[in-house]
Amino acid sequence: MRIAQITDTHIAVPPVEGARRERDLARTIAAINALDPLPDLVVHTGDAADRGQPAEYEVVRRLMEALNVPWVVLPGNRDKQRHMRAAFGDLPWAPAGDGPFDFVLDDFALKVVAFDTCTGPGHKGWADDDRLAALAAMLEGGQPAVVAMHHPPFEVEEIPDPRQFEKWEQAEALAGLLANADNVAAVMTGHIHRHVRGHAGEVPILIMPCNAADLRKGPAKALDDKVAYLLHRFDDASGTWRGSDFVVQDAAGETLVA
Ligand SMILES: [Fe+2]
Repeated sequence: MRIAQITDTHIAVPPVEGARRERDLARTIAAINALDPLPDLVVHTGDAADRGQPAEYEVVRRLMEALNVPWVVLPGNRDKQRHMRAAFGDLPWAPAGDGPFDFVLDDFALKVVAFDTCTGPGHKGWADDDRLAALAAMLEGGQPAVVAMHHPPFEVEEIPDPRQFEKWEQAEALAGLLANADNVAAVMTGHIHRHVRGHAGEVPILIMPCNAADLRKGPAKALDDKVAYLLHRFDDASGTWRGSDFVVQDAAGETLVA
């Protein structure tokens, strides 16, 4: 199984002056569509919209629908779950009701678990006991799973404020759950706009830098406005993570890093 990951597209309506975020996402989608073989799934790990507004999700959906493979979007701190439900609610993966925007995909070699870390009071991650119980329930059953969520639950030393959860004990508990679940192959996150790897126990945590070229930070600034995405590889028989390629393409479509 192969999953292409994009994140932090921050689509803004009206557009941010000097930014070309619709173009950035459209180019990324075209690059993924050109893969042979295609990935099994595209996962967007949040901050799809810059202000969580309905008009922004209309753009996100229109662009994502150009993908030739199944795709899902989970919430980031800039998103608004109720507007995501309005925009994506007719799609089979979008959760009903008005609770956290969690969902599980069972139709792939690995179970895909989307965990909403954005139900707290601020822009940092939130994983209280109720939320951890929800994640544990989604991981139940023992089959190998890959977890997607917006906030990284480890100290990201490369950024000025390395602890991106409101309460750090929640991040530690979340990392402990992921490390001890026995069936988590890998975790993918966004949020920090940089390409970083961490871990929870022996479980790799892979952070995709943002697809909005104007918001890239730290070393990711060197990407300029190139297309970039992560391509995660899993062994179907064993359900284990086999590595993640950070794919960067220039404007001519030439792959620079793979
Ligand atoms: Fe974020």
